[in-house]
Amino acid sequence: MVVSRRGASAKAPRTNFESPSHSIVIGDCVAEMSKLQAGSVDLVFADPPYNLQLKGDLKRPDESHVDAVNDDWDKFDSFSAYDDFTRAWLLAARRAMKPSATIWVIGSYHNIFRVGAIMQDLGFWLLNDIVWRKSNPMPNFRGRRFTNAHETMIWAARDEKAKGYTFNYEALKAANEDVQARSDWLIPLCTGEERLKGADGKKVHPTQKPEGLLARVLLSSSKPGDLVIDPFNGTGTTGAVAKRLGRSYIGFERDQTYAKAAEARIAAVEPLPEESLAPFMTAREAPRVAFSELIERGMIMPGTKLFDAKKKLGALVRADGAIMFGDKVGSIHRMGAVAQGAQACNGWTFWHVETKKGLKLIDELRAEIRAGMAAE
Ligand SMILES: C[S@@+](CC[C@H](N)C(=O)[O-])C[C@H]1O[C@@H](n2cnc3c(N)ncnc32)[C@H](O)[C@@H]1O
Repeated sequence: MVVSRRGASAKAPRTNFESPSHSIVIGDCVAEMSKLQAGSVDLVFADPPYNLQLKGDLKRPDESHVDAVNDDWDKFDSFSAYDDFTRAWLLAARRAMKPSATIWVIGSYHNIFRVGAIMQDLGFWLLNDIVWRKSNPMPNFRGRRFTNAHETMIWAARDEKAKGYTFNYEALKAANEDVQARSDWLIPLCTGEERLKGADGKKVHPTQKPEGLLARVLLSSSKPGDLVIDPFNGTGTTGAVAKRLGRSYIGFERDQTYAKAAEARIAAVEPLPEESLAPFMTAREAPRVAFSELIERGMIMPGTKLFDAKKKLGALVRADGAIMFGDKVGSIHRMGAVAQGAQACNGWTFWHVETKKGLKLIDELRAEIRAGMAAE
């Protein structure tokens, strides 16, 4: 399986986003997703009904009512009815996915194990399960079980042989103090200003997800300009975050009231500036530039002296693109190693040229060439 890893190091390539679009389709997601062009979607995020099987009202010890999920959309006659529904929407989503697309499904212990097994049966290839740990979970009011403080997100490719799915590994690492991002995410439940409320002050929707969670999902597994869909739009959390992050979005929601609230929410979102969203290239992805190109482009003249950062070591640039350190001739890397008495050296980040403003790393000259390549 091939992963397209995008992330840190050199330069951001020129952005070229198609103008992203955002819409919500009102209706049944299975029927409506079937109308999408096959193989057109980059990322699916799905927050399906949990099938909580709540029996009656949930009350606190003081007999006050708990605002739990007790809506018709969460009711199924049996596990097998839930499984049939799960199979139907997963197949409709899969048909719409590009071969390189991935899918996220969030759920709790009530449904996620059934969903995961069905995904594997249908041929999805599981990549990770992410534990969303809630920093402010709802207590277990009856005190008969552990506090239910997490939900699970399954992240999967369309199939085992899927090539080139997006995983912004370097960017995630850079955002995590240069430590590989882990599969347990501590994020609070959606509360306060972010929670959509109606004119009566009550929550518009019982299971609105936090934008922070969706931001991490989209930033890790999609690119600006990608098409993201959510079969269970609810309040449009996925759409709001997609718009902010420069992704296109189609949400599906069968409840008109939720859909209207989501439309207003998404319309109010301002996309972030393009330059703050552009994915950056890994060193491996960046186009190769030979040192001789700096000479060919007149950025460094033969006979120029290269220096280390402290200007204690110097080498001479030759017309053929090699450099000379003392009586030794070789590449910028080899001569950098010789100059330091080291086994190896990255000459691009060792040698400098002298400018009116002081020493300039030759890697900066290479970055100028790469930026020009991206704009061509
Ligand atoms: C768990 S909620 C999603 C909440 C959403 N992630 C948010 O942040 O607001 C599931 C939603 O799916 C909708 N839904 C359930 N069955 C559906 C179906 N067959 N087609 C479209 N929407 C459906 C429900 O009305 C509900 O709003």
